[in-house]
Amino acid sequence: MLSKDSNLNYSEFNLKIDNEIDDLQSLKTINYDYKLLRNKTTLTIFNFIKKPIKICYIGAGYVGGISSSVMAYKCPEDRVIVTVCDNDFNKINAWNSDNLPIYEPGLYEIVKKQRGKNLFFTTNIESAISSSDIIFISVGTPTKQRGFGSGSAAELKFVEKAARKIAEISISSKIIVEKSTVPCKTAEHIRSILNSYKNFKKIKNKNESNDKKPLKNNIHFEILSNPEFLAEGTAVNDIIFPDRVLIGGLQTKEGLEAQNILYQIYSYWIPKEKIIKMGLWSTELSKLAANALLAQRISSINSLSVLCEEIGADIQEVSYACGLDSRIGSKFLKPCVGFGGSCFKKDILNLIYLSNAFNLYEIAEYWKQIILINEYRKMKFIKKILDRFFNTINGKEVTIYGFSFKKNTKDTRESAAITIVLTLLKEGAIIKLFDPKVTKNQIIKDIKDNSQENEFDEYKNNIYIYESAYDAAKNSDAIVICTEWDEFSEIDYKKIYNIMKKPAFIFDGCLILKHKQLKKIGLL
Ligand SMILES: NC(=O)c1ccc[n+]([C@@H]2O[C@H](COP(=O)([O-])OP(=O)(O)OC[C@H]3O[C@@H](n4cnc5c(N)ncnc54)[C@H](O)[C@@H]3O)[C@@H](O)[C@H]2O)c1
Repeated sequence: MLSKDSNLNYSEFNLKIDNEIDDLQSLKTINYDYKLLRNKTTLTIFNFIKKPIKICYIGAGYVGGISSSVMAYKCPEDRVIVTVCDNDFNKINAWNSDNLPIYEPGLYEIVKKQRGKNLFFTTNIESAISSSDIIFISVGTPTKQRGFGSGSAAELKFVEKAARKIAEISISSKIIVEKSTVPCKTAEHIRSILNSYKNFKKIKNKNESNDKKPLKNNIHFEILSNPEFLAEGTAVNDIIFPDRVLIGGLQTKEGLEAQNILYQIYSYWIPKEKIIKMGLWSTELSKLAANALLAQRISSINSLSVLCEEIGADIQEVSYACGLDSRIGSKFLKPCVGFGGSCFKKDILNLIYLSNAFNLYEIAEYWKQIILINEYRKMKFIKKILDRFFNTINGKEVTIYGFSFKKNTKDTRESAAITIVLTLLKEGAIIKLFDPKVTKNQIIKDIKDNSQENEFDEYKNNIYIYESAYDAAKNSDAIVICTEWDEFSEIDYKKIYNIMKKPAFIFDGCLILKHKQLKKIGLL
């Protein structure tokens, strides 16, 4: 009998459930799993879940759109149906078209294969919520821009809105999964929103004539935390072959039951030793901690790269030498012009806010330095460009290669290229930009959104966007590499040199080029 035995501690109990589920895995169907689990355990709260299990994602962005697609792809089509909803009509239209809103290697093929079978994209949020058993909240949690905690706390209004919608619509029990990156204890906040609605809601109870009966005791919301660790550019691969999947829940009977249901879904494609069940608060903090530790490595190597420039050492050699130490390892030790993306800065700011909230000011200061070094690295790179032009870049034509924050994505959030382009525009340079995936509209929008008031009118005539690396380099005084797209290292730089003004400069912010060869060609 698999019920919570008072003599077992949490991990023993988990292990016992794991063993039972292992036996059930061999049956390969969720339906059978539940049937057997129901017989073997005291599974009561979620016994409403029938075949096929219905899953809803609220938020069709990078995380919601990609993780839902992979889930639909990896689970049997007749067992798991995934519906992704978003209040952005254009985004949903794009998901339903051949021109997906997101570029990720492998994504288009997966969406094309599953769409209309067990994967659906819709703006009908109400219907998606009401028909689902499990709801993933995968909306954005940007840094708050105004009010208390602005500049560091996470903006939770989208999460809150999604929770209120679930509370408003639901007339059956559901498992709610925090997929978004959220500050610790957000699950508690979601739970209180859901429960507060429950107390007020009245529905017609089938069994009791026309009496309106509070739902209070009839439906149950169990909150899980299941943060996403995908990295843009390798997102599909990261979700298919994750290092680990964390499923955090309360250590109550219902919490453990909900964790096990999610565990079974993931075990359709992920080896069981990689699916870790743990406490809710540890799971929420683990996501922030992982991003902070990764960003810390980039800022560390970048701080050393500045030192290398001063003393004439080669940062690539230093990074290689340090990475060979198995205690350190080589990942996230690649020097660059500064980390970008929607997560690192935001999540560290979140950690800083959290530390300050607990009066841990020294801890907050420690993490703040990671962000400051990142900004410093960008400025140091820009300063190097300006110095080469003896501080007179006004009127010079500067070609920018790459605008996305990293290769293999068209996401530009917090891209170092934005800071570099804006600073050069401020200095009077003429910008000629090429990125293999980022659209012209996105580039213009980013420059506009990040300019001071009235500045953009001044800048807009100095920005040119090209569809080829060669066209963008014609007559330029300098090339600046801002994103490590593979195709930038495959360009014929001799041809580029010939079409540039002389002297021709090149600044490799990503250290992807063969610098000795470039020097031989004449690029300084
Ligand atoms: N992008 C990444 O690389 C990444 C990786 C891991 C975790 N995360 C985290 O995942 C979360 C989502 O990030 P993202 O990059 O996918 O964000 P995103 O901005 O790309 O997508 C969020 C989507 O949610 C939609 N949305 C907002 N409120 C809604 C509502 N009430 N109802 C329906 N739709 C709504 C928006 O329209 C948008 O399409 C964030 O917390 C982020 O920190 C992101």
